[in-house]
Amino acid sequence: MAQTHERRERNQKGEMSGVEQAIQIAGIACDVVVLLFKFVYFFFESIYRKFVPAVEESVKGEVVLVTGAGHGIGKQLATQYASHGATVVCWDINAENNAATVADIAKKGYPKAYSYSCDVSNRQVVFDTVAKVKKDVGDITIIVNNAGIMPTHRLLDHTQQEIERIFGINVLAHFWIIQAILPSMIKNKHGHIVNISSCAGLFGLENLVPYCASKFAVVGLSEALYQELKLYPGCNVKTTVICPYMVDTGLCKNPVMRFKSTMQMETPEAVAAAVISAQRRGEKAITVPDWYFYLSTTVRTWPMNSADALKDFLGARLESDLH
Ligand SMILES: NC(=O)c1ccc[n+]([C@@H]2O[C@H](COP(=O)([O-])OP(=O)(O)OC[C@H]3O[C@@H](n4cnc5c(N)ncnc54)[C@H](O)[C@@H]3O)[C@@H](O)[C@H]2O)c1
Repeated sequence: MAQTHERRERNQKGEMSGVEQAIQIAGIACDVVVLLFKFVYFFFESIYRKFVPAVEESVKGEVVLVTGAGHGIGKQLATQYASHGATVVCWDINAENNAATVADIAKKGYPKAYSYSCDVSNRQVVFDTVAKVKKDVGDITIIVNNAGIMPTHRLLDHTQQEIERIFGINVLAHFWIIQAILPSMIKNKHGHIVNISSCAGLFGLENLVPYCASKFAVVGLSEALYQELKLYPGCNVKTTVICPYMVDTGLCKNPVMRFKSTMQMETPEAVAAAVISAQRRGEKAITVPDWYFYLSTTVRTWPMNSADALKDFLGARLESDLH
């Protein structure tokens, strides 16, 4: 006992015997070998997975919340999740469009879907609506944070209210929804949180300063949450962040593209299918199309001026929606 105490005191002072130092160095050497093994294993596993994708887990019986389900990607997500046998809970601020999505799902004979009018940027409304869903349908097991807005003009033309609204819907809503639902996922040791960011969450664009900042925030939120969920052993709650390129829903107004054939807008149907597939395969992060991931990560390692030169050459940007 006295010896252990003495050793601890010496350790605190940084005084270790030769044997203790040798044991410590051997421990670090073992950890380095394990790290190298893991690095090589996961590196080759990811290449293998590009050719042989992981099996898509069934979503039958899952309760999937889709925000912004009344239009665009959200409408497609709701319909396609329902076509896979999931019970879909549709939230939108636009009650009419949301009801139309649920009616479409019913017409197709998929499992019953539910519609709730909800402004996702209002924390109290989010908590109240989650409580209603729990009563009507049960615990939500998959969240797709999709609702978003994209005002497109110069920073100096944005009003304070508009910037706050962009962050309220595109970022803070994710926090409120996750805080309202994550406890039941942790309790049930089952859940998946999908956050829709954007390629504008990987690189900055003119006329989109608040939007890009909000979508970068969604990438940061998703990465940090993924790490934090490791603090709940065995909780089995997964995260996926999706960064789509421009999608033909009407949200992305006045796009300008130099090479229209290689940089075509994605369809909301294709993006929704990619989101669902990534969620079912347990992917942590994807871009749509997937080659954007390699382009954006490679460009990040270049000098800023070289990256700028490529951006100018590609000529992909958005013009202001004010003129
Ligand atoms: N369209 C694109 O080019 C594109 C590209 C990359 C990422 N995204 C992202 O994909 C997501 C969906 O985009 P989309 O193109 O389908 O948009 P969309 O405008 O077609 O649909 C968005 C839906 O969100 C709803 N909504 C807006 N504010 C809301 C609020 N406060 N509460 C609840 N619902 C609200 C709208 O009513 C609408 O039904 C957004 O997060 C967007 O940023 C879109």
